[in-house]
Amino acid sequence: MENTDRLRDELLARIAVADLGELEDIRVRALGRSGRITELMKGIGALPADRRRVAGQELNRVKDAVAGAIEQRKTGLEAEALDRRLAEDRVDVTLPVRPEAAGPVHPITQTIDEMVAIFCEMGFTVADGPHIETDFNNFTALNIPPEHPARQDHDTFYLAPGADGTRRVLRTHTSPVQIRTMMAQKPPIRIVVPGRTFRADHDATHSPMFHQIEGLAIGRDIHMGHLKGCLIEFCRAFFAVDDLPVRFRPSYFPFTEPSAEVDIGCTREGGGLAIGRSEDSTAADWLEILGCGMVNPRVLENCGIDPSVWQGFAFGLGIERAAMLKYGIPDLRTFYESDIRWLRHYGFTALESPSVAAGFAGGGT
Ligand code: DAH
Repeated sequence: MENTDRLRDELLARIAVADLGELEDIRVRALGRSGRITELMKGIGALPADRRRVAGQELNRVKDAVAGAIEQRKTGLEAEALDRRLAEDRVDVTLPVRPEAAGPVHPITQTIDEMVAIFCEMGFTVADGPHIETDFNNFTALNIPPEHPARQDHDTFYLAPGADGTRRVLRTHTSPVQIRTMMAQKPPIRIVVPGRTFRADHDATHSPMFHQIEGLAIGRDIHMGHLKGCLIEFCRAFFAVDDLPVRFRPSYFPFTEPSAEVDIGCTREGGGLAIGRSEDSTAADWLEILGCGMVNPRVLENCGIDPSVWQGFAFGLGIERAAMLKYGIPDLRTFYESDIRWLRHYGFTALESPSVAAGFAGGGT
């Protein structure tokens, strides 16, 4: 007994100061196949029967104490090593950005972030789709069949027909992501889709590549009141004008019924344009800003959604136009010229993510 106590104390003392290599050595010499404790245990069989049980228990206790101490010391050493490594490898993320490396955020990116922030606050999530679309998703499922006149309005870039004979297109709007989402997801649905769109059109006010943001809300009871509330709130938040006049003007889109165009109030004074009312509420004019409507039941059907159960609204708007109006950018083409002087002028502070609560603080220069 005294021997095992002494053996235990000796081992525990060595374990307490051992490094990882020594620990393994101590383990092998004490508990390994021919370790000291293992050998003592083998010897129990040779003891007189009346001492075997006590000696066995005693040795087991020593064995557990030693194994436990080794494990504990090992865990401690490993944690210390990790702490040391973390301290040594530390990157100081609070370091200021080198001024020459700080690129401003492009107004398109900023505008998308602001719009997404507003819609996310209303419970929308962001959905995404490919730039190369099927003819079906871009047109047919949206109730624009091949002979439909709306096709002519789209100035579509067509790709060469694939092996299956169908033509693919560069998506002419973000609306095909409505189809993708409704095909893949069960309602209720509430998404916005910011992204690139393409049309074979190029002049002072048209670019062959531009951006849109699409919205879709599908539920059992979603009605025109929700559409209006949502879009009025959006326009006022985005342009940061609390009493911004917003008008819904009847229109036509194949994928919505009824459809409307949304205009916001503006004033033109001395050649300038200001969003919202003037001081004396005169000189009110209107600017078209987006298209919207209640999702056409045919579109729901095309996506396998039962229009007698589900209904909803959709909308789409051009990002460039909204950015030009909000930030007073006069020429569409400058968005894509990659002129660093333009970007320094119209760009936004990097690392400041827009938020509705902060009123998009950290904005333009
Ligand atoms: N896709 C339309 C366009 O590119 C915009 C649009 C209008 C989208 C009405 C919609 C909508 O979702 O409901 O001109």
